Amino acid sequence: MTAPQFTRGRLNVYSGPSDVTRVARALHGVGRKIALIPTMGALHEGHLELIRRARRIPNTVLAVSIFVNPLQFGPNEDFERYPRALEGDLRACEAEGVEVVFNPSVPDVYPPGSAVTVHPGPLGDELEGAIRPGHFAGVLTVVAKLLNIVDPDYALFGEKDYQQLVLIKRMVADLNLAANIVGVPTVRESDGLALSSRNVYLSEEDRKRAVVLSAALTAGVHAGRFGADAVLEAVRNSVAAVPEFHVDYLELRAGDLSPAPDEGPARLLIAGRLGAVRLIDNAAVQLGGEATAEQAEAGE
Ligand code: PAF
Repeated sequence: MTAPQFTRGRLNVYSGPSDVTRVARALHGVGRKIALIPTMGALHEGHLELIRRARRIPNTVLAVSIFVNPLQFGPNEDFERYPRALEGDLRACEAEGVEVVFNPSVPDVYPPGSAVTVHPGPLGDELEGAIRPGHFAGVLTVVAKLLNIVDPDYALFGEKDYQQLVLIKRMVADLNLAANIVGVPTVRESDGLALSSRNVYLSEEDRKRAVVLSAALTAGVHAGRFGADAVLEAVRNSVAAVPEFHVDYLELRAGDLSPAPDEGPARLLIAGRLGAVRLIDNAAVQLGGEATAEQAEAGE
């Protein structure tokens, strides 16, 4: 079977039984580099930014996967009601010049009897992993599968899920996978709220309150030159202004999520709940010295 010639502006959708094999065959030997944007669908500007970033890589087939991965949802989480919007997603992909959409079914990805998963190591049990046990094993397992099926040269992920990005980079290094993992800065609403498919769950009142995460991070970033304690105090003070926001964790770590240094680039991470909606966000922060906000933003 000869591989189809993919062209920008013509969308090829692989979503039927046996499309795991078909998409792998179609992309194998396509003669151009492949950039994969793994998603769970309900595409928003954050996803479109990943696609646009991938489009800047020369001579590249743009592939988007859309798969709501049951393995990364806990028993009491929102797998069933996670937003699904395939028709709109396909239109958005076509408009952005995506050539391949891979939209497999659950049994195609996890055939009966599937038992082997990726173990994320100790970081998988911290931060998000402490609140959502098993989440990162589910994420890494599906990402490993997608990388094996699509075999991309590049795979792009948002920095909003910062721990996910760090763990995926770790997995690719530790398991000798071939893809280059590209992190893309978080896209925000005009008031600072990080875009997320789950934002649609927020009530009108909680949507206004949700700005607390990015506002608290900004306060922390600006306190960076006074050191870690000042950063955390600034964040806590901001968060205290919105008692409806229940903090799950607020932590300062190094860029690779090991313990934070006393000075230099670090990462500030916050997560919590407004009503039943979980929200997470993070920012680069420069600890100590006289760093400008721009320098801190450039740090990991
Ligand atoms: O970030 C997401 O949307 C998901 O965790 C991912 C990476 C597509 C894996 O299901």
